[in-house]
Amino acid sequence: MDLQHIVSQAKEMFSKVDNGHALDKAKSKFLGKSGVITDQLRKIRELPAEEKATAGQAINHAKNQIEEILKHRKDEIIEHKLQREMADSSIDITLPGRGNRTDGSYHPISKTLDRIAFLFNSMGFSVIDGPEIESDYYNFTALNQPQNHPARSMHDTFYLADYEYLLRTHTSPMQIRHMEEFKPPLRVISPGRVYRVDSDATHSPMFHQLEGLWVDDNISFSNLKGLTREFLRAFFENDAIDVRFRPSYFPFTEPSAEIDMFFENSWLEVGGCGMVHPKVLKNVGIDSDKYQAFAFGMGLDRLAMIRYKIEDLRLFFENDIRFLSQFT
Ligand code: PHE
Repeated sequence: MDLQHIVSQAKEMFSKVDNGHALDKAKSKFLGKSGVITDQLRKIRELPAEEKATAGQAINHAKNQIEEILKHRKDEIIEHKLQREMADSSIDITLPGRGNRTDGSYHPISKTLDRIAFLFNSMGFSVIDGPEIESDYYNFTALNQPQNHPARSMHDTFYLADYEYLLRTHTSPMQIRHMEEFKPPLRVISPGRVYRVDSDATHSPMFHQLEGLWVDDNISFSNLKGLTREFLRAFFENDAIDVRFRPSYFPFTEPSAEIDMFFENSWLEVGGCGMVHPKVLKNVGIDSDKYQAFAFGMGLDRLAMIRYKIEDLRLFFENDIRFLSQFT
């Protein structure tokens, strides 16, 4: 067989394949165990002695040529592959940067919180922060809700570490933490995330509350009502807002009330409140003969929903940029 013909056959075959795997297969047709070149080398044995050397040289020359072509084609295939990959993932450096089209803005809940903190600051309250993973003691027991107290069932939540810890169901544990640490007079608000088993258009398993606490030696229920009313009027920028206290029950306040406000023709519940129960004051070592305290808890998301006229609470937590960009 004409060796040069074999070489050009190999060249043609190699040029038709376009991946490493197919190239290996084509290679074995010439250089493999039963390949054409290997076959030629084997046949040298049958030649007369004087022809063996020349034939061997010629076949080896063809073999080298094929190997050379093979190597060249291999490099080409690798190069093409690289080019293709680069084209597929090409970056258009003339496009505007994706992250920088807007300046970003505060979340409506953060804006609401800032505003609330500002208003309470102006009335002499400090803002304090507390843990979201709370102990059973602070969330319930110290707030006059011992084990098996029926009011606990309204605050179902996620428990950790054999019921010793839980995701706090309200911000009221901050009353205890603050009164344990500081001596009266005290005036604080404590906003933050709280957790309950609840989920619909107006309830979310995670929501925000605002706790307020005032401990002093000459304060009364009427101060509580005056304060919450002033706050709501300032927050909604409407001095005509009416506030109503509806009798209610909380284990840690006595008397207790729900705070309702009259807004656009209906009464809306915005929180709960009351005079801190003497047992709670005793738990933190405050003499209830000398000091009085009142506390309130309001739904921060609820205040934001009313202020911004938002019907579905879940919108706050979906992170949809179309919703959030309306608050810039
Ligand atoms: N912690 C109560 C709740 O989440 C609200 C509240 C706070 C009531 C402070 C009275 C005083 O339901």
